[in-house]
Amino acid sequence: MNKNVRIAASILSADFAYLGAAVEMAEAAGADAIHVDVMDGHFVPNLTVGPPMVAALRKVTHLPLDVHLMIEAPERYVEAFAQAGADVLTVHPEATPHLHRVVQQIHDLGVQAGVALNPATPESSLDYVASILDLVLVMTVNPGFGGQEFLPEMLPKIAAVRRILDAAGRGARLSVDGGINVATIPLVVAQGADHLVAGSAIFSAPEGVAAAVRALRGAVLVAYNTPAPSVVNGAGA
Ligand code: DX5
Ligand code: ZN
Repeated sequence: MNKNVRIAASILSADFAYLGAAVEMAEAAGADAIHVDVMDGHFVPNLTVGPPMVAALRKVTHLPLDVHLMIEAPERYVEAFAQAGADVLTVHPEATPHLHRVVQQIHDLGVQAGVALNPATPESSLDYVASILDLVLVMTVNPGFGGQEFLPEMLPKIAAVRRILDAAGRGARLSVDGGINVATIPLVVAQGADHLVAGSAIFSAPEGVAAAVRALRGAVLVAYNTPAPSVVNGAGA
């Protein structure tokens, strides 16, 4: 279990009329990164933002911008997102026939590269790229919308990806995205997740952003202090 778990605030659940303020609040609350969900209406059934929004957010925060590209053929846009100031660009293997090439392209732009796995996509999609990645994102909901319910059947996949990244030895982060809150954090951290993306748990929290981030940190501490289960659905933890 990584004792340096990071929390990334997903602005998808923030008020889009006040995004700059939302990002500043998340930074003041102690979030470790800002997660930006880019959707094209093809790869996922929703539309969000593009490079101009990343460039605008770059001006209001020092936090890393963790940009999750839920778009077809991401190779067309990685350069624009890099120029806009993205620190991490995460692509889906289901969205490109040239996963290795797009990871190389991202690195050539001086940006960290991540790969995101949909719920039905196996961890074997990381074969032959795991050793060059900086982050793997396990989707714990089907991508496209905030506020969905966590899929517990993803826990063995998180554990499997942890083993793959440990074997690769590059120190890549293991991100989880979807339904992350105080109840699910201990489960995913026990399986080795160390980059937790949370949207509605931060920006839709009735107690406000600062208290919400504090509560998520508290849940991470609970995970540190709870003995990990030895077996989850047959996968060693
Ligand atoms: C969903 C996005 C997530 C989303 C998570 O497709 O990738 O980043 O914002 O939202 P919550 O935390 O509300 O499940
Ligand atoms: Zn996301």
